[in-house]
Amino acid sequence: MILKWNNNMELGIPSIDDQHKNLVEMCQKAFEWTKEIEEGVDYYDQISQMLESVKEYTIEHFEFEENLMKEAGFEQLLEHEVEHSFFVKKLDRLNKRDYDEPQEQKQFILNLSQFLFDWLVHHILETDKKYVDTIKRD
Ligand SMILES: [Fe+2]
Ligand SMILES: [Fe+2]
Repeated sequence: MILKWNNNMELGIPSIDDQHKNLVEMCQKAFEWTKEIEEGVDYYDQISQMLESVKEYTIEHFEFEENLMKEAGFEQLLEHEVEHSFFVKKLDRLNKRDYDEPQEQKQFILNLSQFLFDWLVHHILETDKKYVDTIKRD
């Protein structure tokens, strides 16, 4: 499993690229964490905390992007916002019961880090890429 920043994800807008890199790093860290998970230890609180900070940072990033798009008068803003809010809802729907039991926590984090990473890469390459010209022109 490779959860790594790839230069083709770079949009050429430094503030945004930095935020995307931080998000990738959060996925990587979550993945790396699974190597230290010990059997019989309950990581429930740490997982909740991790989810909370991922969500917080993601929302911050989405707002930042949406403001730039708004200022630049980007025409597909609405579609983009829908994708963002759909993803936040997905994060909200992650069920506490899915990582309630210590024996399922490692797999939960593995699945989560892969899911976050895949979504992020796809969103950057397919959706974020669309605003680049408009924002750079602005
Ligand atoms: Fe983004
Ligand atoms: Fe976006």
